Amino acid sequence: MTFQQLAKTRYSVRSYSSEPIAEEQLNYILECARIAPSAVNFQPWHFYIARSADALDKVRQTYPRSWFATAPLVIVGCIRHDQSWHRPTDQKDHGDIDLAIATEHICLAAAEQGLGTCWVCNFDAQLCHQLLCLPPNEEAAVLIPIGHLAPDAAPRPTTRKPLTEIVTDL
Ligand SMILES: Cc1cc2nc3c(=O)[nH]c(=O)nc-3n(C[C@H](O)[C@H](O)[C@H](O)COP(=O)(O)O)c2cc1C
Repeated sequence: MTFQQLAKTRYSVRSYSSEPIAEEQLNYILECARIAPSAVNFQPWHFYIARSADALDKVRQTYPRSWFATAPLVIVGCIRHDQSWHRPTDQKDHGDIDLAIATEHICLAAAEQGLGTCWVCNFDAQLCHQLLCLPPNEEAAVLIPIGHLAPDAAPRPTTRKPLTEIVTDL
């Protein structure tokens, strides 16, 4: 599969089977996150794996959607703001960008493994911080449900802007 084929294979999966994720597959996916690039190579991220009933219950409370509760495993992607690069000219915090790259590595690696994922940012981040007892320097920024696709899983029709609209020659 070419990279473009893989990128086109991935879509937001919102229906999972209860089949657990094999440990080797999870390790493969996490290794792909680990090697992601980051500003000044600071790697200001931390990933929590929710797969026990207790951890899943807590994470699901922060994003109470029936489809989300079908995922047998959720990765909570966190930014360590005290470890992220702040651009000296304007102090812009690059932690969001760094975590986003690692997160998409996770989603693409999972797609390559035949697994489904979905970026979830519309969750209650404060509640998540509280329920998971996260340290003060960490921000829970994204939830990534991972699972085998349920038989009814199908991409929602989406469109992308044409290149002519998003690229400008200078
Ligand atoms: C930063 C980000 C946040 C997102 N948050 C959510 C979310 O909270 N809930 C959800 O169902 N989908 C979420 N999505 C998925 C997008 O809706 C989806 O990627 C987009 O509609 C394109 O569809 P596709 O992923 O199937 O290609 C998010 C995606 C991104 C990149």
